[in-house]
Amino acid sequence: MNPKPETSYPKPRPALGATRADFPILHQQVNGKPLVYFDNGATSQKPRSVIDALVHYYERDNSNVHRGLHALSMRATDAYEGARTRIAKFINAADPAEIIFTRGTTESINLVAHSWARAHLKPGDVILTTEMEHHSNLVPWQQAAKAAGATLRYIPVLGADAEGGLNLAALDTLLTPAVKLFAFTHISNTLGTINDAALLCRRARAVGAVTVIDAAQSIGHAPIDVQALDCDFLAFSGHKMCGPTGIGVLYGRRALLDKLAPDETGGGMVVTVTYEGATWKPAPERHEAGTPNVADAIALGAACDYIDSIGRDVIAAHDHHLGQVAMEKLSAVPGIRIIGPRAGQPRGGLVGFAFADVHAHDVVTFADEDGLALRGGHHCNQPLMRKLGLTSTTRASFYFYNTEQEIDVLVGSLHRIQKFFVG
Ligand code: ALA
Repeated sequence: MNPKPETSYPKPRPALGATRADFPILHQQVNGKPLVYFDNGATSQKPRSVIDALVHYYERDNSNVHRGLHALSMRATDAYEGARTRIAKFINAADPAEIIFTRGTTESINLVAHSWARAHLKPGDVILTTEMEHHSNLVPWQQAAKAAGATLRYIPVLGADAEGGLNLAALDTLLTPAVKLFAFTHISNTLGTINDAALLCRRARAVGAVTVIDAAQSIGHAPIDVQALDCDFLAFSGHKMCGPTGIGVLYGRRALLDKLAPDETGGGMVVTVTYEGATWKPAPERHEAGTPNVADAIALGAACDYIDSIGRDVIAAHDHHLGQVAMEKLSAVPGIRIIGPRAGQPRGGLVGFAFADVHAHDVVTFADEDGLALRGGHHCNQPLMRKLGLTSTTRASFYFYNTEQEIDVLVGSLHRIQKFFVG
């Protein structure tokens, strides 16, 4: 199952609040108030089991991988490759070799933009993306298009607040055989829109375009099955799914990855080196030059275990529930404009909003006094902000450990902000 724009969700599990006990960081006060962490779209918090995996590795197994024949190196290699296999299972990849460890979503997308685009794009070709992309799924394609003399086109969003999602009717004219690559976000980090990734991949395949899914906001929030999606590449970060920062994944079809020229070269990824040249190993080593981020990859494997112990369908239902509760309660705050899907429509676990007369940075600063962690700004979505006629929004983004009571804290704070700044 993949996060689909469906309107019926299983009932959220009331006991989910118990997971808070697994997150040491949540049990603190900020500015004398209990922390309400609503910045999960930027990064999620880490459960004890993930922190323990890091500590265990550094205390017992730390060594370089794939190089040594001693016990520690073999243990580290087994744990690192075990994490690759675990992550392959997490997204139902057919082969662990389809999992390339990167620093995060941005590096994963850049790898495709550099390696695939450099080899395949020519003048006159088209890269297709959407108007709701994070800069990390937009700027690399601008650069790739410029380098190749190709054209970058965008599927528009519908409605004054982008409430209509992507204009799928535009696919008929935009998704032509000239499109060689179609890159799109699964869940918008700014709007909360859930795109029908399976449909978009199907449409792309019909014209022979390679697909790249930015799964940064969906990976830890809903079941993802790359074989069912039938995508070519899928990029995500570990730190938004309870894992550490500095580790991410590029999933790619084995046949594509094995043919792709490496973006970085050096140790670990070569078969033979002479003074004249070198030959490359197959995937995944081909795309992992140098000493990899062993500890964080292993901890990402632990994050997969943790998330699956809760259930991604349960998390998706909780996201939807909190999103709807937040929409309803925020709508009652005077002067607020909520962007993205309307109430009742499918929405990821985040709500973006703006006050006409209060800058988002003031909202976030004021809310911080109430113990709330929000994000304010353009959310790496500058072109979309301009299209919406906004300079910034405030975003509350949820995870399974958040509660309805915390939304009440947010709503109380927003009422005070409205009174303070507008009167
Ligand atoms: N991409 C992250 C966000 O949306 C940083 O906040």
